Amino acid sequence: MYEMNASPMNLLERLGIDAPILQAPMAGVSTPEMAAAVSNAGALGSIGVGSTNATDARRMVAAFRQRSVRSVHVNVFCHAPARASEAREARWIERLRPEFVRFGAAPPLALREIYRSFVEDDDMLSMLLEERPRVVSFHFGLPSAERIEALRKAGIVLLGSATSVAEARTLTAAGIDAVIAQGYEAGGHRGVFDPDADDDRLGTFALTRLLVREIDRPIIAAGGIMDGAGIAAVLRLGASGAQLGTAFVACDESQADRGYRAALKSDAAYHTVMTRAISGRPARCLANRFTALAAGVEARDVPDYPIAYDAGKALHAAARTAGELGFGAQWAGQGAPLSRAMPAGELVAALRREIAVA
Ligand SMILES: Cc1cc2nc3c(=O)[nH]c(=O)nc-3n(C[C@H](O)[C@H](O)[C@H](O)COP(=O)(O)O)c2cc1C
Repeated sequence: MYEMNASPMNLLERLGIDAPILQAPMAGVSTPEMAAAVSNAGALGSIGVGSTNATDARRMVAAFRQRSVRSVHVNVFCHAPARASEAREARWIERLRPEFVRFGAAPPLALREIYRSFVEDDDMLSMLLEERPRVVSFHFGLPSAERIEALRKAGIVLLGSATSVAEARTLTAAGIDAVIAQGYEAGGHRGVFDPDADDDRLGTFALTRLLVREIDRPIIAAGGIMDGAGIAAVLRLGASGAQLGTAFVACDESQADRGYRAALKSDAAYHTVMTRAISGRPARCLANRFTALAAGVEARDVPDYPIAYDAGKALHAAARTAGELGFGAQWAGQGAPLSRAMPAGELVAALRREIAVA
């Protein structure tokens, strides 16, 4: 028997799903088509709108609803808005200049805050209150109590990412319904509330056990879970569900480009690196030309998220134009070599079969 801190049925009922599987929201990689395929297969399909404005996010929800009548999960980023520093940004541009020059391009003249945080995006809040997805989750922290209350009153189930017991306590004190325990193995952006604070870098195993013991909410484990054996393992640790990101990156419905897919299939997938040089916040990426460049960079030299991402995306675009695909934000977790290229619905079906025999 699994040792539970909260009934898993309760979480699954609240999310409106029948398998303990959440496809991670992956801004820029997952798609409404992927989310619909996942939800139609009985798991929770998710839409990442952290890099999207409210108009496009509304279109994404509509695209999901054209394909599925089941639950949908929308994820927003709640980072502290970026602090601009002209001097730091100018130094960062100079640091990257030789790379741009190598690809026959010029770096941007200035860097912009390319995405708005949900903490100050009223249009996104209105969109969510009107569209009422079944589930909304917060990454990088929390919005104000008023925003949380408005979403709760609309009947939306709320999830939040935590990388530590302290962050999980903040989530529960704010009334979040279930906590996503994101271990250090996880691909993509680490959900730390403050990227400049000390980080204990807890792995999924220890973090899940700590939160199951100390937090009176269902726990959803995330990080390094790639198959039914991994999902069954975190259920045995007391999690009520598992959120998988990297496992879905190679799926047919993903937006991952040719270079990203090729890297995932190659020996490169055996090496992942946590870096903040690509976007301005720590994120786990396949080892590539960009992470190699980032190796000697001090955190204080990198512009705030998402200002640094403006430069990162420009460098990737310049490199890609010159035929070099190794400067992409190829986010992936430590289980990357276990990813499978197939339709997302078939992946969910395979995961369900694997859980049953694990
Ligand atoms: C390509 C990619 C993009 C991601 N984007 C988001 C995002 O937009 N919002 C979010 O909350 N988490 C995001 N994550 C993190 C996932 O929610 C989750 O923590 C992670 O995928 C779990 O680890 P795994 O990749 O080993 O499964 C992303 C992960 C990946 C791999």
